[in-house]
Amino acid sequence: MISKQTIEEILARTNIEPLISGYVSLKRAGDTYKGLCPFHSEKSPSFTVYPKTESFYCFGCGIGGDAVTFIKQIEHLDYPDALEFLAKRAGITIMEDNDKYFRRENRVDRDRVFKMNVDAANFFHRCLMADNPSARAALSYFTEKRGLSLSTIKHFGLGYAPDSFDQLMNYMTSKGYTKDELVQGFLCGKSDKGTYYDAFRNRVIFPIIDVSGNVIAFGGRAMDNETKPKYKNSSDTPVYKKTRHVYALNFARHSCAETLILCEGYMDVIAMHAAGFTNAIATLGTAITSDQARLMSRYTKRVIICYDSDEAGQKAAVKALRVIGEVGLEARVVSVPGSKDPDEYIKTFGKEKFAEVLNGAKIEFEYKMESILARHDINLPQERIRALASLENEISAVYSEAERDVYIQMVATKLGVEPKSIRTDVARIIAKNVRAQRQGESQKAHRTAMGYMDKVNPDFAKAPTVAKHEEAVLGLLLIYPEHRKKVFDGGFLSQDDFFTELGQRIFAYIESAYRSGDVFTDLNEVFSPEEVGRITKMKLTRMNLTDNGDTVLLESINALKGSMQKKKAETASSCEDLSALIARLRSTQE
Ligand code: UTP
Ligand code: MN
Repeated sequence: MISKQTIEEILARTNIEPLISGYVSLKRAGDTYKGLCPFHSEKSPSFTVYPKTESFYCFGCGIGGDAVTFIKQIEHLDYPDALEFLAKRAGITIMEDNDKYFRRENRVDRDRVFKMNVDAANFFHRCLMADNPSARAALSYFTEKRGLSLSTIKHFGLGYAPDSFDQLMNYMTSKGYTKDELVQGFLCGKSDKGTYYDAFRNRVIFPIIDVSGNVIAFGGRAMDNETKPKYKNSSDTPVYKKTRHVYALNFARHSCAETLILCEGYMDVIAMHAAGFTNAIATLGTAITSDQARLMSRYTKRVIICYDSDEAGQKAAVKALRVIGEVGLEARVVSVPGSKDPDEYIKTFGKEKFAEVLNGAKIEFEYKMESILARHDINLPQERIRALASLENEISAVYSEAERDVYIQMVATKLGVEPKSIRTDVARIIAKNVRAQRQGESQKAHRTAMGYMDKVNPDFAKAPTVAKHEEAVLGLLLIYPEHRKKVFDGGFLSQDDFFTELGQRIFAYIESAYRSGDVFTDLNEVFSPEEVGRITKMKLTRMNLTDNGDTVLLESINALKGSMQKKKAETASSCEDLSALIARLRSTQE
């Protein structure tokens, strides 16, 4: 059986506030802490941590629960893996044999996959350093063509995948890995006919390493510019999700810089590190996700975006500014003038010039202002007014008043307008937006209150008033043992008194825990994270009732009983109607 003891020990040794602080920057607010929700995008904090109850809840998106729920969601782990994660963090060893979860047959052994990847990375590196013509060609691609030193090559663990369909496979199977393991780790592919083949062939290899130092994936570049695709990368595997990793963060996190430099590609990062900018990282391509931004926010306060100069790169930079800003990081942006990417810039102009470029990094507003000004000829009054209007719109979207003031000054100087006039315009736009938003919100609040759009408890909308009483009863039963005793020993309620399916399940969960000596199974094991969030809210809203909720409990139980009685009466009376009808039919037939 699962060792409940271990789980309890893990939870006892985990404090939720420091745990969440590692991911979200929290500010104290009375007994609680508030921050920007890591699970949805928001500008003002509705994510709340309750150290007293070791729980969290986001009033914006409804996610909530305890430390295990948080880790499940933020690290994208399943229940046992989340427990293992917290155990490691708390320095608790999990007894593999005693724990039913840690003996699951089909569970991927992550450590074994990591070891397999290290073995493969070493193989690729040895192939690069080998004494044969193709190895020498690959090495000279790095040293001659890309200008890398041997120590840089070593530092990044670069390698070479030989032009062969089975060299890696033969080596790895000789080390005891099965072909299916190799396929699962994206080191090999398997054709429709069932033949296995090496996934990377005749490419130079870039290992991808996570922040803990595990080799999690590989990228392979063709050594010419004709072969398509230029880069071949591992697909997602049990240990690699492309959208959640940041290349070279394992090095950059130790660079002690207050800033990270974000670029697009492997070679940009490597060139920057070689030039001394060891805080460079890459999203490997342009699409940045909020998972990646959040990962960065664990190691830095500021990110300078330095994407390619082409249109795609510049467009992506605007999006990256937003995504990075949304997780609470300060985002800046630079472009490398006269080069296609930072790698080329450093090679052409040197590292001193590149340092100057970085010093000129612009904050989002400056960047937007320059692109707006570039589109308008501000010597013409009409154009100047248009540019001003666009800029005022941008400013009015800024949350902080002090920040707005800084931008107002900037625009006033640039366009030769009184700051006071801009301030008045901006205030008017904000007031208009607030009115529009209030209208939208009150509609939304109404719909939410009525339970439409309720995905977690779809039955809620059928009878919101009764459903609210269900939530009150369940919340109180979860918090207070004395209520459980009263309700269950006295037989006051049964599962049938609940009409929503979720309410029934939660009631059954509480009842079975009570009947087995008031021992609760971890919520996270029984309910989905969204459901755990809802349950957390049910508890939180009934936490501070003065009389331990006695009055509310009684009222709500009555309401549930009343509504069930009514329902029974309705079905009963419709039965009567039916029999009366039949009786009447009979009599007319006769
Ligand atoms: P780029 O096309 O800008 O490549 O793509 P690069 O980094 O400048 O490469 P070099 O200098 O020619 O070697 C940027 C990043 O996008 C991803 C890679 O991570 C690359 O580093 N990419 C690009 C791919 O995954 N596949 C591709 O075919 C191309
Ligand atoms: Mn590039």
